[in-house]
Order: sequence, then structure tokens, then C-alpha cells
Amino acid sequence: MPRHINCIFCRNRWNSCCSFMCIYLSFLIIIIAVFIFILAVAIWSFTFPSDVTFHVTEASLKQFNLTANNTLFYNLRLNATARNPSKRVTFDYKRITVTASYKENQFDKLNLIVTPFHQAHKNTTSLMLPVIQGQQVLKLKTKEVTEYNEETSAGVYNIDVDLDIRVRKKVGLIKYHESWNLVCNLKVPVSSNDKSVIPFNKTECKGPPNEDTSAAASGFSTFSPTFGSGTGFSASRP
Ligand SMILES: *[C@@H]1O[C@H](CO)[C@@H](O)[C@H](O)[C@H]1NC(C)=O
Ligand SMILES: *[C@@H]1O[C@H](CO)[C@@H](O)[C@H](O)[C@H]1NC(C)=O
Ligand SMILES: *[C@@H]1O[C@H](CO)[C@@H](O)[C@H](O)[C@H]1NC(C)=O
Ligand SMILES: *[C@@H]1O[C@H](CO)[C@@H](O)[C@H](O)[C@H]1NC(C)=O
Ligand SMILES: *[C@@H]1O[C@H](CO)[C@@H](O)[C@H](O)[C@H]1NC(C)=O
Repeated sequence: MPRHINCIFCRNRWNSCCSFMCIYLSFLIIIIAVFIFILAVAIWSFTFPSDVTFHVTEASLKQFNLTANNTLFYNLRLNATARNPSKRVTFDYKRITVTASYKENQFDKLNLIVTPFHQAHKNTTSLMLPVIQGQQVLKLKTKEVTEYNEETSAGVYNIDVDLDIRVRKKVGLIKYHESWNLVCNLKVPVSSNDKSVIPFNKTECKGPPNEDTSAAASGFSTFSPTFGSGTGFSASRP
């Protein structure tokens, strides 16, 4: 060992201190300090809430006919917004699954997002969801069929739309994945000629992402994603 190497802990002490052992310990302590610092930054970023709020802004039914053989013919149109109120956290949306149910009978499920999109700070993103249409056999109880008939005469149906969302949250340089589950209890008016007789009331979806217990961090990633521009959705049925 050259004598002029100054060991950070043992300067001005006995010369033999600047031995291999002392330098080794100094490096070890620096590495542990850096590690603790990175861990502290990671824990600090974890504590940032993902309090994105989702609203269904538009909803209308072109068709919602329950035929005698319990087959539901549906055509549901939805628009939603996602608001990120944070100044520090941004999100990359990876996947949105939309599940539509009527009286706890799931009648459709769509997987959205082929091009992941980015949500900046303080941004409200419009989610133009695809038309949910098709036919599905429902298992409704007699009471529920009566309710269906009542809703038909009122021109408004109670439809539950679940949003299962997979995002990558980014705070500073730290990125990790989260899953959110939101439930939107909607009162959807029937529209004729693309005009709803009864206006739809903007509805907030329940289950804020920051309350979600299924939020799961799946490690840190440092690679840069490639963003699609805007919300280019296409749908597929699983
Ligand atoms: C659904 O109901 C509407 C209005 O009652 C009717 O015009 C339409 O033909 C029905 N569609 C089906 C598939 O039954
Ligand atoms: C139910 O009835 C409709 C017409 O009323 C028909 O188009 C459909 O195929 C029927 N579905 C089943 C499962 O029988
Ligand atoms: C959703 O938004 C698009 C674009 O703004 C619009 O064309 C469409 O009519 C909206 N859907 C509903 C159900 O209002
Ligand atoms: C929010 O983000 C979207 C997509 O990245 C962008 O098109 C829109 O202009 C942004 N809105 C605001 C208010 O910055
Ligand atoms: C929207 O709210 C108004 C006032 O509370 C209510 O009269 C109307 O029925 C609601 N619309 C729907 C589609 O439920």
C-alpha cells in the first residue's frame, strides 16, 4: 500500500491504519450508505398516493333489450376521464379491462389499450371507451325481471361498470406497477337517434386507487418505455 493514501477514518492516526483493511471498511461503509439512501428514496416514493379519480362523463344505451329467452341485446357507449391531481407522480397506463354487469350478471368484458399512454402531472385524460355491444344470456330472478321492466318504463338502467387498470407509477426516477379496481355504479339512460331523453349525470367511480389493497409493486424498472400518442384504444374480448 502506498503511504500517501489517506484513509477517511484514520487520518492522522497511526500510519499502519491505512492498511488494506481500513480502505476496505471505508468502501463498505460508503456502499452501505448509498444503499440506504436508495432505499430511503424508494420508500419515500412509495408513500406518494395514487389518488387518480375516475369519472364516467357520458353514458348511453342504444339498445338494452331483454328477450323472452333471457337474452340481453346491448349497445352501451361510455366516455370516462382520469384525473391525476399530483404534482410529482406520473402514470403510464398499460391496460384497462372494462367489465359491464347488470344485476350482478356480467354481460361483457373488454381488454383495452394496445398502445400504453402516459399521464403527466395535473393532467385529466379522456378515455374514449369503445362501444360495448353484443348479446348475452342473463340469469335473472323474477324480481329482477320486474325491476328490468320498471327500468325500461323509466328509460334508465342501473348498470355497473368495473375498471381494472394496470399502471406504472413514476415518482422521480422510481417506477413500479400498480393494479387498480374501480366500480362505477351508473344510471344509464336509453337514447334514441343518438340523443338521450334523460341526461346522464357524471358519475365518480368508487374505489380510489390509493385505497386499493391489491396494489402490488412488482419491482423497480429502469428502462424507458415507448409511449403511444394519446389514448389509442382497441378492444379485445378475453
Ligand atoms: C330492442 O328494442 C327496440 C325498441 O323497443 C327495438 O326497436 C329493437 O328492434 C329491439 N331489438 C331487438 C334485437 O330486440
Ligand atoms: C333468443 O331470442 C332472440 C330473438 O328473440 C334470438 O335472436 C336469439 O338467438 C335467442 N337466443 C337463444 C339462446 O335462444
Ligand atoms: C364520447 O366522446 C366522443 C369524442 O368526444 C364523442 O364523439 C362521443 O359521442 C362520446 N360518447 C358519448 C356516449 O357521449
Ligand atoms: C393530458 O395528457 C393528454 C395525453 O398525454 C394530452 O393530450 C392533454 O393535452 C393533456 N392535458 C392537459 C390539460 O395538459
Ligand atoms: C340526474 O339527476 C337528476 C337530478 O338529481 C335526476 O332527476 C335524473 O333522473 C338523473 N339522471 C339519471 C339518468 O339518472
